[in-house]
Order: sequence, then structure tokens, then C-alpha cells
Amino acid sequence: MTMNTQKSKLLIYGASGYTGKIIAARAKELTLDFEIAGRDAVKTQELAKQLNVPFHVFTVDDENAWKKVLENKQVLINAAGPFKFTAQQAMNACLNAGVHYLDISAELDTYRLAESLDGKAKEAGIQLMSGAGLFVSYDALAVHLAKLVEQPQQLKIGFQHYGGFSKGSVLSSKNITDLGVLIRKDDQIIQNDNPEPKVFSFGKKQLECLPTPLGGIILTYKSTRIPNIEEYFSLKLPASDIPDLNPENLPDGPTQEERASGRNALSAEVTGIDGNVVKAWIDAPSGYDLTPLSVVAVASRILNDDFKVGYQSPGSAYGEDIIKDIPDTRLIDLIN
Ligand SMILES: NC(=O)c1ccc[n+]([C@@H]2O[C@H](COP(=O)([O-])OP(=O)(O)OC[C@H]3O[C@@H](n4cnc5c(N)ncnc54)[C@H](OP(=O)(O)O)[C@@H]3O)[C@@H](O)[C@H]2O)c1
Repeated sequence: MTMNTQKSKLLIYGASGYTGKIIAARAKELTLDFEIAGRDAVKTQELAKQLNVPFHVFTVDDENAWKKVLENKQVLINAAGPFKFTAQQAMNACLNAGVHYLDISAELDTYRLAESLDGKAKEAGIQLMSGAGLFVSYDALAVHLAKLVEQPQQLKIGFQHYGGFSKGSVLSSKNITDLGVLIRKDDQIIQNDNPEPKVFSFGKKQLECLPTPLGGIILTYKSTRIPNIEEYFSLKLPASDIPDLNPENLPDGPTQEERASGRNALSAEVTGIDGNVVKAWIDAPSGYDLTPLSVVAVASRILNDDFKVGYQSPGSAYGEDIIKDIPDTRLIDLIN
């Protein structure tokens, strides 16, 4: 169902979800020319009315609808997760329509899918970027440190998350925890047979983090080619803790006040071939503010014709420079 024929340049699919709404609000705040879409007619129409933007209602499998709606678009933000069920269809639609693709997935299989579509993305002349949420600042930090040492050999990175988890994140995190503790070792992705916690410095605060594959083993490897990557998280992912994943029992996500009451942080160390270690950290808004700010920053770059064709990570497309586009976010070098 298409309700408006006005042309816009950005489409947000899954816009009426918890994170999609914050993304759409950010796009509105920046007065971007955008439309929204989703599978639920009532929720999508209601949001479109609030934002005063055109809207489209179609399921993710509806190839004809994608074709029609993407005809006049430059970039798609896919905010409909779990991405296990939406990324392939949305990526194919973008490849067919010649529209740049972004999503906010935290699922490693979505990154692998994007990686496998590199050739097709180049043929279509589009930038295909999965993981344009958290990984925008994460990658900027890794790229920054990798440039400070000779032949970077190892990245260890800790993520301090604030803001709890949305319903969508809980449902999606099963697609991460099921993979086990993956690391990159000597360029290969393997299981970590001996996962041990590690303490990271987030400014003055020291925090023990747990080994957790966050996706840098794919995305940051793309950005930096660092052959050894280990990732850590300040919390246990919820899917491993919650036996009953009935969506009805899960809250939509933190309130605006809850989101504003704390900060996210990333801390990383990179070791060069001579053993030299450099460290830095990032202080940023809490998770469900940071991701919308990040993905809209990338979409804005594309709308200004700043993109690289093919499968890209935030770091491979924009380097560390993109961090300047994320409000209220600072990269701070740590002195040994
Ligand atoms: N790494 C990051 O930076 C980051 C940060 C935040 C969120 N995320 C990810 O973003 C995703 C969304 O999170 P959320 O908090 O917004 O969840 P949510 O509130 O449950 O919203 C999910 C949205 O996707 C739609 N959707 C789900 N499955 C679909 C399908 N098969 N076909 C079409 N639409 C579908 C939902 O539509 P209905 O309303 O019709 O169900 C809803 O609009 C999750 O995967 C989460 O992990 C990642």
C-alpha cells in the first residue's frame, strides 16, 4: 500500500519500532527529506502523521513494493530487526534499485551477508553497510589507534553499554549469543576456547568486561585488517539470561529520561608489530541515542554524495573522521 507519491531521498524501513522512531525523530530534527515505511499500517500511519512525512506500508518480502518505493530514493535505513528476517530482502531490494543500504544490525550474520554481496554492490554502484549504529564510533576508535602504531597486530576493545535493552535488541541478541565467543586470530574467525574477562579504562573508571563478539571481528577487520581482534562487553547479553522470549513480556525500550541519565563508552588498545601499545576511549550518549545519531550521520554523508561503493564498514568508508559528525561524542587518547 503506497499512500503518497511525493519524492524523497531517504527511506526508513521499520520506522515505527522503538529505535526506528528515534532515528526518524533525528532525521526530522535535521530537516532531512525522508519517508517512512513498515509492515504495520496503523503504527506506520500514526508515526507519519506525527512527523508529517509520506509513508508506505508493505512487508519485507514484497519485491514489487520495494521496487516502487525505492524508485526515487538515494539511501535506505533498515531499522527492522531482528535483521535475520529482514536484511536479505532489504539488501536485495537496494541492489536491484541502485539505492545505498544502511542498517543498525548487531547480528554478525548480517555483516557476513553484506560482505558476501560486495561484488553485487559494486556492480549496482551502491554502498552496502550493515552495522551503521554502534560501529560508527567503534570503528572510528579502532581506525584512529591503528594509525598510531606500525603494522597493528592486535585490537582489544571493551564496550560499556548504558540504557538497558529494547524488545528488539533482546529478540536479536539470541542471534549473537548462539554463535558463542568468536574472536579473530591470525586473520581467521575462531571460537575462543578460554574466554577470560578483561579490565578496561573508561576515563578514570576501570571496568571488568566479558568476552563477547560484537561484530568488529568482521567490520573492524574490514576497516583495519588487524589480524587479531578480541571484543568485550560490560554486561551479559540478555538472550542468554531470559528463558521466555515472548515479545509481549518485554518492554519497548528505555524512556527518554532513562536514556539521558547515563553514557555509553568504548575503550580500546592496539598493539603494533614492535609491541608498542596505544590506548584511547570514547565517551558518547547512551546506546539508543547513539545509534540513531550515528546512522543518521552516515545517511547524511550519503545524501551529500559521500560514499564508497561495495560492502563497507563505517571505518572503511569514512575513517575516524565520521566521529565529528556524531553530536556529544568525544575520542580521548589515554596516556600509558
Ligand atoms: N547495534 C546497534 O547499534 C543497535 C542499537 C539499537 C537497536 N539495534 C537493533 O535494531 C533492531 C530494532 O530494535 P528496536 O529496539 O527498534 O526493536 P522493536 O521496537 O521491536 O522494532 C522492530 C521494528 O522492526 C519491525 N520488524 C521486525 N521484524 C520484521 C519483519 N520480519 N518484517 C518487517 N518488519 C519487521 C517491527 O515491526 P512491527 O512493529 O510490525 O513488529 C518494528 O517496526 C534490533 O535488531 C536491535 O538489535 C541495534
